Amino acid sequence: MGNDAVKLVPSILDADFARLGEQVAEVERAGADRIHVDVMDGHFVPNISIGAPIVQSLRRITRLALVTHMMVSDPDFFLEEFVDAGSDSFLVHWEGNNHLHRTVSRIKALGKRAGVVINPATSADVLEEILPDVDQVLVMTVDPGFGGQTFLHTMLPKIRRVRQMIERIKLGCDLAVDGGINEETAPLAVAAGANVLVAGSAIFAASEGISAAMDRLRAAITHKAH
Ligand code: DX5
Ligand code: ZN
Repeated sequence: MGNDAVKLVPSILDADFARLGEQVAEVERAGADRIHVDVMDGHFVPNISIGAPIVQSLRRITRLALVTHMMVSDPDFFLEEFVDAGSDSFLVHWEGNNHLHRTVSRIKALGKRAGVVINPATSADVLEEILPDVDQVLVMTVDPGFGGQTFLHTMLPKIRRVRQMIERIKLGCDLAVDGGINEETAPLAVAAGANVLVAGSAIFAASEGISAAMDRLRAAITHKAH
């Protein structure tokens, strides 16, 4: 895959929420492909973050797709609220969802794109039956809940396996990674088969500023990943 096909998706979890609109506008100007919105309920993960009103506000100021990463115990309960607010697609976890196919079907019935997420300890095997129904697989490269954690290199073989499954079962399905993506780890994830990079702290907490950080991430995957 050409590295120009790799999508860079800033996660706003590490943004300055007092200046969220400005910062999202800045990543859009800097060439972000989508915006990743982390929704946490303090139950599915040990942290709380943001809800539909933030999506509603962002919808007014960006044309980029708003991808909603549902780290909540009952994603079905919130889907319509987020659709009304302006979410374009949903990432829902395999873990703790006994009716994942139903959740994915509901998302599609609402006219939105659906992706499935697996945590670090979850095997790629669980994707086999749901893969034909989703547009995206997200392999967590940290345990979800917080920004700024360290990339788990042990996830690289799993990324390679998921890439092989996608080639076999669902060509064109996005393979995303989320957690600890920076200049060092982005090329490794791309080389393993990821074509969507979600990055939070490497973009929003970078001392050189947002657009410089995005340029450096892009340069890292262009120069190093082969
Ligand atoms: C973690 C979230 C991530 C997080 C990534 O639970 O799902 O999207 O914002 O942050 P970094 O890139 O700092 O690991
Ligand atoms: Zn996320």
